[in-house]
Amino acid sequence: MNTVVSGIRSTGKLHLGNYFGALKNFVRMQHENQCYFFIADYHSLTTHPTPENLHGSVKQVFAEYLACGLDPEVATLYVQSDVPEIPELYLLLNMNAYLGELERCTSFKDKIRSMPNNVNAGLLTYPTLMAADIIIHKANKVPVGKDQEQHLEMTRTFAGRFNRLYKVDFFPQPVAYNFGEQLVKIPGLDGSGKMGKSEGNAIYLSDEPKAIRKKVMKAVTDGGPTEPNQPKPEPIQNLFTLMNVVSSADTVEFFNEKYNSCVIRYGDMKKQLAEDIIAFTDPLRLRIEDILSNTDYLRKVAERGAEKARESASRTIKEVRNIIGFKPF
Ligand code: TYM
Repeated sequence: MNTVVSGIRSTGKLHLGNYFGALKNFVRMQHENQCYFFIADYHSLTTHPTPENLHGSVKQVFAEYLACGLDPEVATLYVQSDVPEIPELYLLLNMNAYLGELERCTSFKDKIRSMPNNVNAGLLTYPTLMAADIIIHKANKVPVGKDQEQHLEMTRTFAGRFNRLYKVDFFPQPVAYNFGEQLVKIPGLDGSGKMGKSEGNAIYLSDEPKAIRKKVMKAVTDGGPTEPNQPKPEPIQNLFTLMNVVSSADTVEFFNEKYNSCVIRYGDMKKQLAEDIIAFTDPLRLRIEDILSNTDYLRKVAERGAEKARESASRTIKEVRNIIGFKPF
């Protein structure tokens, strides 16, 4: 059986990118594998949330995991900061993570550009914390979106380096996983790039229908194709990519034909896309609200999850300490 680990940062609420890039696969994987899914609240500290915001976001994302169909009786659902073995392993891995490789990481370079006044050590060592999250359970599969590929590569580097340094075959080499298909990248509707909270272009699972219609109707398009069967420019391809994940194959085919024969009306396509997104998100939104109002239930699930996660994490850390040479006299 595979051991699966994945997480999502607690930076507010989940958007369609998180769902189709990661959460959907968490749900698909939970029955056939030993799964650990968590809320990465330590990771979210790089941007210094207030205590209220941090607490609210963790609760929100936890409720969203459950609303999307993660079953706490089957998978282990927990909050990263409830498992102190993770920061211990992070500290140990940092001793063999080198400045050059951390500085070369694309997500670090992006952050230097987007938040030049807050280039903190947590940002630099983000990949070692992520590696600790994964190898603390000796996972071999990690369901993530395309943007996390490099972090997974670094995880393999750190795991392999530990094994070589101590001449052991202890940590497996975990791989990013999407059921044999390419990793997913859900675009934003602002013309280029991925959908993301910090990109300011996200459609959230908990958005009201009115907000979704407004966001989709504002999506960037162009003057329309002038010749049949031309490749689609990025903003248009993005509309189709989103449609591919929320609409029926017939609907996608309908608009594809209209595009290829140069008679597409983007207004009609956006209206349809908005309604298909709403049909998908609205039952989730209601379930999220329902679960959020049940704090007792959320607390119980989180406590049980932390217990199960710590059982596995403490087994690993005990062996790691022994391998490194931290032994009782
Ligand atoms: P985060 O919180 O940015 O995103 C969580 C998950 O959602 C996926 N995702 C997307 N997939 C496709 N298209 C998009 N537009 C899109 N936006 C987000 C991400 O690929 C990710 O799978 N470092 C991680 C969190 C993390 C983690 C881990 C993941 C911490 N420790 C250990 C796996 C294992 C992150 O920032 O993801």
